[in-house]
Amino acid sequence: MSINPREFIETLIKRIDFTQEDRAILKSQADWGKQIAPDMADHFYSYLGSDPEMSSILNGTEERIHRLHKTFIEWFNEMFIGIDDWGNDYSERRWRIGLVHVKIGIGPQHVVPAMATVIHEVGKRLEADGKDQTLLDALSKICMIDLAFIDQAYIEVSSAAIIQETGWTEALFKRMVTTSVR
Ligand code: HEM
Repeated sequence: MSINPREFIETLIKRIDFTQEDRAILKSQADWGKQIAPDMADHFYSYLGSDPEMSSILNGTEERIHRLHKTFIEWFNEMFIGIDDWGNDYSERRWRIGLVHVKIGIGPQHVVPAMATVIHEVGKRLEADGKDQTLLDALSKICMIDLAFIDQAYIEVSSAAIIQETGWTEALFKRMVTTSVR
């Protein structure tokens, strides 16, 4: 089981209705995004640090938290610029971010509330800076697309590991999952 990141983002773009207008709004506010990114990173990591389980993951290695601040800022800025108009490079990058989280055991129960925190903090800042609601709508949509990548990576990697370990076919695996709910 594996996904094609480009096809996946195209599906998500349609499902979430991430429009050309949303893209234009984000691009036009890229400087504002750059300006607030370090504060957003601070909020994000102090939120993660307040949860004992996530805090111990964050402080797993000494330089990790430092590196994470930098990668969060890059991630945040990329949502505004779209890298290659939210195309191949953007989707490959989001898929990789998903895989990095799977590898360290971070799943939907961690990333969903974390992404809600990002949207909440951005919303507060947006209001304080007198920005338009349309910017929050566009940002919320792209955050949901990015979140879907991290969650889907978890499902794809877990399923692929079971299929590989057991030798089951994908069809058998899917049937077992759907019929196992009581
Ligand atoms: C809104 C959800 C999240 C976003 C957007 C995000 C973003 C990122 C990015 C961009 C990277 C770098 C990936 C790379 O190296 O290519 C990363 C790595 C990582 N993230 Fe997240 N993250 C999220 C949620 C979480 C949560 C909930 C945790 C829980 C502790 C977490 C912990 C980590 C760790 C430990 C790494 C690897 C750091 C390293 O050693 O290099 N992340 N994250």
